[in-house]
Amino acid sequence: MKILVVGGGCREHIIAERLGTEDNTLFSVMKNRNPGINRLSKSFLISPETDTEKVRAFAKETGVEFAVIGPEDPLEAGLGDVLEAAGIPCFGPGRRAAEIESSKSFARGLLEKYGIEGNPLYASFDDPASASSYIDGCRSDVVIKPSGLTGGKGVKVVGEQLKSNAEAKAYVQEIFRHGIGGGKKVVVEERLKGEEFSLQALSDGKRLFPFPLAQDHKRAFEGDTGPNTGGMGSYSLADGLLPFVNKSDREQALYIMQRTIAAMRKEGREFRGLLYGGFMLTPDGVKLIEYNARFADPESMNVLSVTKGDFTSALYSAASGELKNGLSFEKVSTVCRYYVPHGYGDRPVKGSALSIDEKKIAETGAMLYYGSVNSDDGKLTTTTSRSFALLAKHADPWEACAVIERAGQFVGGLVYTRKDIGTREEMGRKMAAGIELHRKTGEAA
Ligand code: AMP
Ligand code: GLY
Repeated sequence: MKILVVGGGCREHIIAERLGTEDNTLFSVMKNRNPGINRLSKSFLISPETDTEKVRAFAKETGVEFAVIGPEDPLEAGLGDVLEAAGIPCFGPGRRAAEIESSKSFARGLLEKYGIEGNPLYASFDDPASASSYIDGCRSDVVIKPSGLTGGKGVKVVGEQLKSNAEAKAYVQEIFRHGIGGGKKVVVEERLKGEEFSLQALSDGKRLFPFPLAQDHKRAFEGDTGPNTGGMGSYSLADGLLPFVNKSDREQALYIMQRTIAAMRKEGREFRGLLYGGFMLTPDGVKLIEYNARFADPESMNVLSVTKGDFTSALYSAASGELKNGLSFEKVSTVCRYYVPHGYGDRPVKGSALSIDEKKIAETGAMLYYGSVNSDDGKLTTTTSRSFALLAKHADPWEACAVIERAGQFVGGLVYTRKDIGTREEMGRKMAAGIELHRKTGEAA
């Protein structure tokens, strides 16, 4: 089949790689020239992925029969609707269904309206004064979220990025003044404490097909410190669970997602594509932190690197509303670590040269996925976003870490990576955290 892949990051690189191993011819649209995707594509267009008219014209010109949209921005811009209207089935929801991600206020409101479990205490506001007086009435620490898209960088938590509820009020003002995340709406939530996990599932609007769980690391620096980022790296385990998440927690998260797609259907916003729930295991059980309308980045690399079966047909059938569950998962652990430009999180250095010895990396057994880099005349340079990722699979995650570290000798440039992701020490800490959280919920780990 002729397939269009939209997006130029690591997530789209692994999606293209999976689609490319099957009997497909790929075309791609991306805002940066990703060398991995470039190589897998018969032809490509460099363009903002939100320019729906340009993408539609390219899709028509190349005669693609199916499109897979990777990032959230084109989904919010309605690319799914535009391509479907042009007769091209699309993996990725239309604009109204994508609001589950692009409007945090809509997502919270949906759970509330349908009595779906997992919401923290929250309220949405469209003016700063009402938000401020609500914060004044809060007895515990709050979390401030611009309602719209911010690339994972707009949420601020009292006790982490903000010192006090007074600073939270100042941040609310800033959101409206500077138009952060659209600047029209803000969500104020109670601060939850616990361990976060990601559950991704294919959805045909009625059914879900879940992938193994994975855990991302949002903070820029080791030991989970520093600013929030798009995600610095992630791991998954052979049994599809996590050191702190047991089967019943996972069932609960999936149940919340199942009720959510049923609610979306009732709202006339049938969700076809990939629903990704960011959850937190707390002393009060599983809570929903946010929904995303697309594969997770970096966690897509963990789950897709262990996915076996006909990937094209799985995506196509989900998009067509009749999900065919022909996928299964290799029983191994995975670790993925991003390399990001110096200064990433605050002031990333863009345009600096990278050197990557692909052959030597492949010899270590690690996999390399390109992210937001540019490649011109064989020269690779950084953009302001995450540059590339190294991934390895092994029975135990810490063995996968060792492979990544060997592969890391063959990359150079002004980039850094978090070396604590997936280590034995980290797994021990996560397991201890899980035992403590389950002790508090009164349930066996
Ligand atoms: P989001 O973009 O909604 O995933 O938020 C980014 C990060 O902020 C999450 O990964 C959490 O670490 C943190 N966060 C979001 N909501 C809450 C909450 N209600 N309580 C504590 N931390 C939160
Ligand atoms: N894992 C973070 C994200 O995909 O938004």
